[in-house]
Amino acid sequence: MSIWQNRHVTVVVSGGIASYKAIYLIRQFMQQGAIVRVAMTPHAAAFVTPLTFQTLTQQPVICDEFTMQDPQHVVHVELADWTELMVVVPATANIIAKMATGLADDAATTTILATTAPKYVVPAMNSHMYANPATQRNIAQLIADGIQVLTPATGMLAEGYVGKGRLPEPSTILSWLTQTLLSQTKALPLHGKRVLVTAGGTREMIDPVRYISNRSSGKMGYAVAQAAREMGADVTLISAPTALTKPAGVHYVEINSAEELATTVKAHFDATDLLVMAAAVSDFRPVQAVDQKIKKQPGQNGMTLELAETEDILKTLAPLKQHQFVVGFAAETQNLLANAEKKLAAKKLDMLVANDVSKPGVGFNGDTNQVTLLTPNSTPVTTNLLSKQAIAQTILKAAIERGA
Ligand SMILES: Cc1cc2nc3c(=O)[nH]c(=O)nc-3n(C[C@H](O)[C@H](O)[C@H](O)COP(=O)(O)O)c2cc1C
Repeated sequence: MSIWQNRHVTVVVSGGIASYKAIYLIRQFMQQGAIVRVAMTPHAAAFVTPLTFQTLTQQPVICDEFTMQDPQHVVHVELADWTELMVVVPATANIIAKMATGLADDAATTTILATTAPKYVVPAMNSHMYANPATQRNIAQLIADGIQVLTPATGMLAEGYVGKGRLPEPSTILSWLTQTLLSQTKALPLHGKRVLVTAGGTREMIDPVRYISNRSSGKMGYAVAQAAREMGADVTLISAPTALTKPAGVHYVEINSAEELATTVKAHFDATDLLVMAAAVSDFRPVQAVDQKIKKQPGQNGMTLELAETEDILKTLAPLKQHQFVVGFAAETQNLLANAEKKLAAKKLDMLVANDVSKPGVGFNGDTNQVTLLTPNSTPVTTNLLSKQAIAQTILKAAIERGA
């Protein structure tokens, strides 16, 4: 699989004579499976139209900071958060100067400032502009800020003379980015690991329109899947239906019932190094799922639904464990530690993430969580109340420290 597959790439285009070459780079990104969005400066729009980029990427292009296509979101922040990798190409002397000082006076520069994604800059300009001490000082500042900058090519400039300042060929830019990304990925702690994550609340059908489920939003599992991906793992997310956006770059399998979840997890288990069972699996299912919608009968006084236990997936997996590191979750409303200790031992888990869902801000649905990590033969560790993203990173780091 290409390292670019499903990667969220934002291309920032600034206003230089080489702006049109961004089109060829974007095509190459897309051929590699990346999902590309474009932010452009108003000056870039004088060289190439936003419509060209929009048609090519099949994504909205942001150019004017104050165009609110989507009233639910502030456009540049939404794009900044979506971005996994940002490349400014071509980068004018002007945009480099703005980036070096943190200026944000249009949609493109505001998005650059608002993203936490790694940034890459490909300068292209007249050789004297490039050699100017101000430009060199600004490039040095970008490098000091952790931004990767590609050296321009030497060759015939648009001005009609030879100099250093040409935009390298799109294929050269792509291979530079690919090499850089690969070397960074190899250094990541979960590089080469296959991580399987389950998320969401399973649905146990009563009839074709009704089901038993729980309040799980899937946010914790999705945060784990995304964090594992950011740590370099090959991630598969098995999810019950949720309202969440699929994390970029993960293999995604949607299931409904506990039974489907069990079958899918078992099918993936051999090829898994780290399993994080964050799904809220129903403990019970209706004994019989009825084919037709159950109708209320005249004079009916109540109804009894007979339930049977669902398969305990972690218990099934316990004797099948070989190299796998298995993390379970326990949502409790009382006797948190005692119940968690029991579950850890009974299911032969390598780690149990316990949370007291009766506490405010903890567990289901919210954006925060506080958990206690239990591992065999060591003292439980309780985190602070943190974002689910931070909890996800803590869980994975703890699993890595313990040999995952
Ligand atoms: C025809 C033409 C070509 C230009 N080419 C470049 C260029 O290749 N590199 C550059 O840094 N500036 C170039 N400029 C100057 C920029 O367009 C100018 O500095 C502008 O303010 C950049 O705005 P932006 O960085 O917001 O896109 C060019 C200007 C014109 C009129």
